[in-house]
Amino acid sequence: MRKKIVAGNWKMNLNLQEGVALATELKAALAADAPNCDVVICTPFIHLATVAGVVEGTVIGLGAENCADKEKGAYTGEVSAAQVKSTGAQYVILGHSERRAYYGETAEILKEKVNLALANGLKVIFCIGEVLEEREAGKQNEVVGAQLAGSLYDLTAEQMKNIILAYEPVWAIGTGKTATSDQAQDMHAFIRGEICKKFGAEVAEQTSILYGGSCKPSNAKDIFSKPDVDGGLIGGAALKCADFKGIIDAWKA
Ligand code: PGA
Repeated sequence: MRKKIVAGNWKMNLNLQEGVALATELKAALAADAPNCDVVICTPFIHLATVAGVVEGTVIGLGAENCADKEKGAYTGEVSAAQVKSTGAQYVILGHSERRAYYGETAEILKEKVNLALANGLKVIFCIGEVLEEREAGKQNEVVGAQLAGSLYDLTAEQMKNIILAYEPVWAIGTGKTATSDQAQDMHAFIRGEICKKFGAEVAEQTSILYGGSCKPSNAKDIFSKPDVDGGLIGGAALKCADFKGIIDAWKA
């Protein structure tokens, strides 16, 4: 059985004190009412070491939102995969559409980041997704297929076991406009088929594919009910404990 996962992506929100408060609140909420899925919070770099102390020994996993495409050295302002790992984090989000669009992250750069993250023992939440014009032109499968091939197809089947995929249609991120659960299912089934072709049925069956884009407590249950949707990558709604918990609870009967 592949893992069900709800992961939060805090983006560039919350100062350190606010982040610690949110993690502490979530920890209490999940201690009182255990989740039916894996729960991960991905925070700004500066929060990681402190939040690691808060969530240590709990069900909550911790991740970064990015890491460098270089191993170490004179890259002022960058944070390496090894540095992320040393904070206690176990995950890193790579390939988020905001990184691709605003920071020029290409498939090649992302390939380097994925390799370094895996080499340093991090699990990767790898984001893929089309923009609105691409969907309107019916090119979403082509675009997503190329994103997978461009950054992941040099990996071994063994390495793929540490990759979680997140399908995030760019037109649904932070817009309040969610993909329908059928649109999500169609794309997730396509993605699983591509992974099957490249890495085989066993890897495809084991790979968790999350949906992301305006996921909230009111729509999570419908989206998560689809056979190829294994959870969510949550932006805005991960910033409030009650909303994030409401999405986690969508995995309950
Ligand atoms: P959103 O963001 O939930 O605020 O749409 C999702 C994401 O970008 O991961």
